[in-house]
Amino acid sequence: MRLEGKTVIVTGAGGGMGRAIVKKLLEEGAKVGGIDLKQASMEELDHDRFTPFEADILDEEAIAGVFRDMHEKNGRIDGLVNAAGIAQPATPITDVSVSEWHRLMDVNATSLFITSREAARYMKDAKSGSIITIASVSAVRPRPGLQSYIASKGAAESFTRALAIELAEDNVRVNTIHPGPADTQMLAKFTAKDADVSETRESIFASSVPLGRLIQPEDISGGVVYLLSDDASMVTGTTLRIDGGRGL
Ligand SMILES: NC(=O)c1ccc[n+]([C@@H]2O[C@H](COP(=O)([O-])OP(=O)(O)OC[C@H]3O[C@@H](n4cnc5c(N)ncnc54)[C@H](O)[C@@H]3O)[C@@H](O)[C@H]2O)c1
Repeated sequence: MRLEGKTVIVTGAGGGMGRAIVKKLLEEGAKVGGIDLKQASMEELDHDRFTPFEADILDEEAIAGVFRDMHEKNGRIDGLVNAAGIAQPATPITDVSVSEWHRLMDVNATSLFITSREAARYMKDAKSGSIITIASVSAVRPRPGLQSYIASKGAAESFTRALAIELAEDNVRVNTIHPGPADTQMLAKFTAKDADVSETRESIFASSVPLGRLIQPEDISGGVVYLLSDDASMVTGTTLRIDGGRGL
């Protein structure tokens, strides 16, 4: 029970990685607040230490309310895991609109500012905390046609480093995880609109991982527990690649 007594908020809690992360945090003894667009996506996480919140991570007031509720209930906020995100179907830049670019930057990057700002309010007071953002190894090992998604993940990594130096004096740690191609419903959404999804899953994604298989959501949740735990008390501003070597 490495997280007993800790309170952690997880965005994208109804998604492939988010659900696995919440389950693992509950196993490790944490109290968890989950945020996703639809409450129904978090139904299977039913647990007396889990509180679901139906909210959009771009809604500043709703996000402030989630942190307030969790703090009132548990007296502390120890961790934030930013796992929500959206994909971009592989598309040449000449066919991508500015509004599509903005949407990706908003959901994948601006949201981090909103959630981390709330977390910082509580963690700075407590002089303790850990913020983790699920970015993507594509930020350092890009693939054609994903220019807007990859830019948003690069922003996530830079933001992490900037916040890590800013919050170090308050003993708040801020880190990124870079997954490689992962076995969730999102993977199919990176495929070009006219391509065969089941074929690209193996021929493009799985075959690009040197360790020979797609990343499973449980591979990510183990890294999240480590970064939230006291074992990582001197780890900040870093990126943990959980990518089967895809970034090499
Ligand atoms: N699946 C992959 O191959 C892969 C690889 C590298 C990085 N990632 C990143 O990992 C993270 C988790 O992805 P996943 O594979 O679990 O995808 P997923 O689609 O299964 O989960 C993402 C979740 O985020 C939620 N979400 C999206 N927009 C939201 C909003 N505005 N407000 C609240 N919730 C919102 C969705 O409803 C969904 O439940 C994402 O940030 C993704 O970019 C995924």
